[in-house]
Amino acid sequence: MRALEALVSLGPVTMAARDLGGYLARVAEAACTALDFGVCLIYLRDPSDNSYHVRTTRGVGDDERGVKLAATVPALVLGALTTREHQLAHGFGYYVRGDDHVWRTPLVSRCFAMAASPRVHQCSWLQGDLFLIPLPDGDGPPSGFLVLDEPLDGLRPSDDTLLGAMTLAKGCADALLYGEMQSRSTRNEHLYNKEHDAVQHLQTLDDLRNDFVSTISHELRTPLTGIKGYTDSLIMHWDRMDDDRRRAAVTKISFSTERLNRLVQDLLFISRIESGTLPLERTIAALDEPIASAVHAVAQSFAGQRIEVRPPREAAQVLADMDRVEQVVTNLLDNGAKYSVEGKPVRVSWARRGSRVLILVTDRGPGISTEDQKKLFARFGKLGHAPRAGHVGTGLGLYISRNLVEAMGGRLRVRSLPGQGSVFAVTLPAASDTSRAWREG
Ligand SMILES: Nc1ncnc2c1ncn2[C@@H]1O[C@H](COP(=O)(O)OP(=O)(O)OP(=O)(O)O)[C@@H](O)[C@H]1O
Ligand SMILES: [Mg+2]
Repeated sequence: MRALEALVSLGPVTMAARDLGGYLARVAEAACTALDFGVCLIYLRDPSDNSYHVRTTRGVGDDERGVKLAATVPALVLGALTTREHQLAHGFGYYVRGDDHVWRTPLVSRCFAMAASPRVHQCSWLQGDLFLIPLPDGDGPPSGFLVLDEPLDGLRPSDDTLLGAMTLAKGCADALLYGEMQSRSTRNEHLYNKEHDAVQHLQTLDDLRNDFVSTISHELRTPLTGIKGYTDSLIMHWDRMDDDRRRAAVTKISFSTERLNRLVQDLLFISRIESGTLPLERTIAALDEPIASAVHAVAQSFAGQRIEVRPPREAAQVLADMDRVEQVVTNLLDNGAKYSVEGKPVRVSWARRGSRVLILVTDRGPGISTEDQKKLFARFGKLGHAPRAGHVGTGLGLYISRNLVEAMGGRLRVRSLPGQGSVFAVTLPAASDTSRAWREG
């Protein structure tokens, strides 16, 4: 009856999942108060080496507790104590007398620091006697065991006591099992969440890939449709077309072919950037030449476009791949002209700023809202602005430019106000004495 009360006072086993130490302390206390023992020790199994260690003590002095806590009870020792000859009624608890032959095995006696003393009476408790109740764990080895010592009545455990101890041990074993299941389910939940995240990530990548493929197909189809249409009409109506119409058709085919060619080049370029196989030929040079080439190329494709060039007062040399610098500046100037109304100038200036060289490309075009600036450098990041008549945009230039600038150790950023224009800022590492030595060495 008292054991039942003690069991009720333990509270639900679910508490063990949150505070196993607290739960075991309550078991030890219940074992002492309800079953009238002076000492209770709870050992738990360490699955990593199959041994048992004290986890909770009650009624043990500070000095002794330290010794008990440090002791390891190998599974072998538990096996030697829980034999049939030590088994009590109901086949659950084990009673090992202080004068039992098993204590003569040093490994066993060392684990419990037992010393035999003469027995007064068959029923009396001897100093050195051990009352041990395993904590059952299915078919496997016990998950731990209780040791009860110093009975207040000085007698061997009665059937009643044994029943009470068994009930407590069962509650304790259930709590351990519940705690284990709980932590396993937390682990499983964690694993499930990780797996779920990984699947989501793959799904996003897959979506991105599909988007990319469908955008590419769309972009390829536009010039191809132009080429096919004009070629078909040349074939079908050749005789009825005058020279001017034929020339116009061939010019359109040439324009679409050029667009197709650029698109394929850009895609190949992107795949090399993304796979990290794009070679960079870094040299130390001033920026005058690559910028002049970029200005020339843009001036060629925008007849009459005003491009202001502001070189620095003092020569500014960079450590960079000059072809790539030209490519980046061409795209920025091309954008500045392409998205501005005709007649608005575009400006390129550069100067040294500490250990960097800053290139600014400024236009007085439509500007880009803060919201749009976030999409600007994405692949196929085309915004609302229509390019100037006779020009097209694929939305790859800024993505490629930023990747190139970053690969050269620089940065590409934008400042823009809608209605007032945009400034694109490229920074590149300036050529220092060290980089010169590095190049020449
Ligand atoms: N200077 C600018 N002023 C206003 N909008 C711009 C400017 N530069 C870029 N944009 C917007 O950003 C988008 C992305 O520019 P990006 O250079 O990447 O592509 P694109 O010029 O359209 O095509 P591509 O460079 O591949 O020929 C453009 O489509 C345009 O909407
Ligand atoms: Mg562009």
